[in-house]
Amino acid sequence: MKRLFVVAACLSIFVAVFAQDSPRYVKINGGPYLTNVTSTSFTVVYTTNMDAVSWVEIAPDDDTHFYNQERPAFYDKRGLGRRPITKTHKITVTGLQPGTTYRYRAMAKGVLEQDNRKSIVYTEGFGMDLNSHPCKVTTLGGDYNSVKFSVVNDMHSHDSVLCRLFADAAGKYDFVLFNGDMTSSIDTESQIMDDYLRSASRLFGECTPIHFVRGNHEYRGNAALKFYDYLDSPTGRTWYSFSYGDFFFLVLDGGEDKCESDVRNLDIMRTEDYVAEESEWLARTVVSPEYENSKVRIAFCHMPPSPKGWYGNAMVSKYLVPALNEAGLDLMLCGHIHKFKNYDKQQTGTSFPVICNANQQRMDVAVSEKEIRLDFYNSDGLKLRNLVIPVGKNR
Ligand SMILES: [Fe+2]
Repeated sequence: MKRLFVVAACLSIFVAVFAQDSPRYVKINGGPYLTNVTSTSFTVVYTTNMDAVSWVEIAPDDDTHFYNQERPAFYDKRGLGRRPITKTHKITVTGLQPGTTYRYRAMAKGVLEQDNRKSIVYTEGFGMDLNSHPCKVTTLGGDYNSVKFSVVNDMHSHDSVLCRLFADAAGKYDFVLFNGDMTSSIDTESQIMDDYLRSASRLFGECTPIHFVRGNHEYRGNAALKFYDYLDSPTGRTWYSFSYGDFFFLVLDGGEDKCESDVRNLDIMRTEDYVAEESEWLARTVVSPEYENSKVRIAFCHMPPSPKGWYGNAMVSKYLVPALNEAGLDLMLCGHIHKFKNYDKQQTGTSFPVICNANQQRMDVAVSEKEIRLDFYNSDGLKLRNLVIPVGKNR
């Protein structure tokens, strides 16, 4: 009898734990946030508490209620014709008008069970609340007199500091850029949302596009390759360009900081081939009409160039700087060294200025056709310094 009681108790504990681990209702538990906003498209990323199929609905930014009519729906196309059943959702909305504001709503339907080709059991659907999450996005287009953006780097999972740095960021910037090493190591996929993106979404990312530069630490950890599920780029790579009218931006990937054969690279890194491929793309990009006709040119790269520095810095110098030195670049913005630095050109071997933002500090950048103004803040909101870089001096 006593043994029966023990078995029953164990069973009830197992059922309780199982029930806790297997949600019955789907919820969005990270995001949504915007990335890869172009003149005709944007991508929305979010996570759910259980495996789900997902979609994004859009509506014009007018006075009609979102429920006024059937709204166009867009699906996660990573299934190549089949809807992915997943906890991470990346949906690109296409066919939009340039320079136009849209409302959007992130949706999901949980999958409780799937039995191959026989059946799938769904939960009821779930959508972001329209009042508490009035998500809007404006496609790129038209002329811009100025562009305002903010950069942080080397946060190394200090989410609470990020929250302080961006406490009043909603609606303040054209975009926010994470310039690498936002986590120290992507050991588990959930870290990507837990360590910074859930907060970034809540504070500004629902309506302000996020750009991602891959730092050397984003190469590390068992789940490092999941990183690309959380960003989107026009090239399908971790390097790409985007422009706001005459303002041209290059997002660069400098690879790992140590030699491929270094014991700490675990025989898993092959970054030099990857950066070499990037250099070919960069050489093509800086002779494109869009680049050549641009008036302001800014590059982002996590590691600053240094021909005599570590392997990673030297790789930036070897593969990326040659094309940029001939391209009339106005400024390269970096991180990695965990302190502010305005480099002497002799140190970097560049024809353009290179500035490093310190770790866990925010760099606000206001760009006009005449100058690039940089203001640096700590997490107490204290302004530490400012710099003004003239535009067009390297052409
Ligand atoms: Fe770094």
